[in-house]
Amino acid sequence: MCGIVGVLGKHEVAPILVEALKRLEYRGYDSAGIATINNGVLDRRRAVGKLVNLSDLLVHEPLAGKSGIGHTRWATHGAPTLNNAHPHRAGAVAVVHNGIIENFRELRAELAADGIDFQTDTDTETVALLAERFLNRGETPVEAAMKTIDRLEGAFALAFLVEGEDDLIIAARRGSPLAIGHGDGEMYVGSDAIALAPLTDRITYLEEGDRALLTRTTLEIRDAKGAQVSRPVKTVRIDSASADKAGHKHFMAKEIAEQPAVLSDAIRHYLPANEDSVRLPGEGIDFAGVQRLTLVACGTAYYACLTAKYWFEQLARIPVEVDIASEFRYREPPLPAGTVALFVSQSGETADTLAALRYCKGKADRILSVINVPESSIARESDLALPIHAGVEIGVASTKAFTCQLTVLLILALKAAADRGEMTPEALADHVAALRGLPHLLNAALECDGAVRGAAQRLSAARDVLFLGRGLMYPLALEGALKLKEISYIHAEAYAAGELKHGPIALIDSEMPVVVMAPKDALFDKTISNMQEVMAREGKVLLISDAAGLAEAQEGIWMSITMPRVHPAIAPILYAVPAQLLAYHTAIAKGTDVDQPRNLAKSVTVE
Ligand code: F6R
Repeated sequence: MCGIVGVLGKHEVAPILVEALKRLEYRGYDSAGIATINNGVLDRRRAVGKLVNLSDLLVHEPLAGKSGIGHTRWATHGAPTLNNAHPHRAGAVAVVHNGIIENFRELRAELAADGIDFQTDTDTETVALLAERFLNRGETPVEAAMKTIDRLEGAFALAFLVEGEDDLIIAARRGSPLAIGHGDGEMYVGSDAIALAPLTDRITYLEEGDRALLTRTTLEIRDAKGAQVSRPVKTVRIDSASADKAGHKHFMAKEIAEQPAVLSDAIRHYLPANEDSVRLPGEGIDFAGVQRLTLVACGTAYYACLTAKYWFEQLARIPVEVDIASEFRYREPPLPAGTVALFVSQSGETADTLAALRYCKGKADRILSVINVPESSIARESDLALPIHAGVEIGVASTKAFTCQLTVLLILALKAAADRGEMTPEALADHVAALRGLPHLLNAALECDGAVRGAAQRLSAARDVLFLGRGLMYPLALEGALKLKEISYIHAEAYAAGELKHGPIALIDSEMPVVVMAPKDALFDKTISNMQEVMAREGKVLLISDAAGLAEAQEGIWMSITMPRVHPAIAPILYAVPAQLLAYHTAIAKGTDVDQPRNLAKSVTVE
């Protein structure tokens, strides 16, 4: 949420900043801007809307200089206007910020009492104004920045540029991630290593509370108390191409298509070849004595947790509680002895999930996480972090991360079942074999693209859509509805199929498409009965099932999509594909912006 970048370079920096911002645009696209120092003089360019508007502006109004900072915004305080676009400037200071300054009202009041005027509605402007006030009181740029940071409450990643200081960027992180890149006579800072990937693979991740003083050849890091600290330089290999669409029209299409390959990678990491056992990284975990699991996440990752509840309870007989991170963190739930807390997050930086994890520290027996970014805060603060190996996910609507999260969670549930003696070696081997066959099945599932395209054309005329599923298909119905609403802006809801008649059935009429997700499994007949109830009320049913299911239940339905036959336990992973494609093609049919849907951004680092 908001991307920031800074470069102390050897060459003109504006195109480098814009290129880096392109790779951060998934974090917000309400406005973008850069500031540079040229011959000691600070100047900036900003534009409302997508980054392309800033690029166009720079063609007509270029910005020279070899040092600079840049920002792509997801608005928190203040509308997405030019005035509110970053970098914010106060006299000699320019600042870019990701996060929220929670005490900004108090700081504004203090500055206003000093007779200082405000040009914007943002919390960030107070940071620039505070730093300028310290400069005016005779502090050095570094001290002005440090004293400013000391005054801030909330979550932030910041980068300061100061007029006259051609070889200095001051950066700080608290709550929001920040990576420093080491170049050859150059130094960089960015919200993540992806932004810096074409520039360097030598990365230092700042720790919570760190401040960094960058010059082209040196990096000094101070911790929150001001003590100099050393943080390791890691080689982080991110294929520059992973931020490209690789011939696809959208990142979302590319990421849906990548699923067989990335899942195969994830499976290879956890299921050693020629063995029917699960291998976890590091010390792993023995579930034998675990009394209870608490799973916490947000959005799509939360639906992955809801699915995992079925697996852990049915296969491993562990009682599971699942919670939305933003509720969990303030509810202060008791965690009885024997509780293991597990956090699921693609980015590993989601503010609420991180806060929930911190709440569990010292209360839960172990803290596990299932993450996509191994260097993320959630990974680093867990006792055991399990990477999902999905590769960089750029599309704002999560796709491949979801199926990889499901895969790792199922593997973990199998390990739990084996540890607790709840699964025979034969049953384990059966599940492992099914998982190994999953990439192949996903390839087959992707072939439904043509059928989904046709269905999506018709769905795109709907105002509301209902998704129904039972058992493992219920969380997937929730995920299908979320995908559809976030990128096509069609109102969509999901219900457990058996819950329909307790209220939502009142919504059914001939205008209401209902997507029913029902493989031919033990619950199929029950779901189909609920589907009949919908059709009896003229509801238009789109049934997603396998050939056997469709052969039994095709009569009277509006449309169908055929899935390959699949082991019931892994069905939600496979059926995620048509759910994703349905949202994708409906969005295309409606002409919405698939990769950058309105109001959304990836990596939600604010509450
Ligand atoms: C939806 C989506 C979001 C994220 C949620 C959590 O497509 O992507 O709902 O799943 O913001 O993000 P992470 O997994 O990064 O914690």
